[in-house]
Amino acid sequence: MEKIILASNNSNKVREVKEILRDMNVEIISMKEAGIDLDIEENGTTFEENALIKARAVCKLTGNITIADDSGLEVDYLDKQPGVYSARFMGHDTSYDIKNQAIIDKLKGVEGNDRSARFVAAIAAVFPDGKELVTRGTMEGLIAREPAGENGFGYDPIVYIPEYGCCSAQLSPEEKNKISHRGKALRKMKEELIQYIR
Ligand code: IMP
Repeated sequence: MEKIILASNNSNKVREVKEILRDMNVEIISMKEAGIDLDIEENGTTFEENALIKARAVCKLTGNITIADDSGLEVDYLDKQPGVYSARFMGHDTSYDIKNQAIIDKLKGVEGNDRSARFVAAIAAVFPDGKELVTRGTMEGLIAREPAGENGFGYDPIVYIPEYGCCSAQLSPEEKNKISHRGKALRKMKEELIQYIR
């Protein structure tokens, strides 16, 4: 069975990837399970670049096919910020209550579709022979006027999803996985990987 290393230590991401790739003939191993402790600088300017940087580093170290992801929130009115800086926006250790309120405040007086925003996820797969695959998924929404919901994490309470009539943090994990940026990018990656892994 082919081994694939997942270049992440985030247990939610590890679970989601294992779940979506469950019916493929592969063994998904997290960095922790592989005994790798690597601090990789995410200095790319796009989600795709950052996902590739992580996947390349771990593939080089282990010699195994490696999958990595990068994700974040783009707010159109803020020129697509925080974007690749989503985790670092206002400082890594600043609470999301504060980050979320800051984004709402920046959009004061902004109406309707001008509040558009999206979650973006890029997934990269890097093979030991140098082959590279990248996929992207998005979840479109509007910045809410106030935070709502207890599920999810990060910016979920301020992203209103019109098709569901609620914020992302008000969706159950199952509902969110079906429409999430990461779920979409992962399912696309699965379609691509199937062509190379039997
Ligand atoms: P990453 O772990 O480097 O991909 O950082 C992604 C950052 O983007 C997270 O720390 C969150 O701030 C934000 N983010 C990405 N996906 C989501 C999501 O599904 N909900 C809420 N915030 C998200």
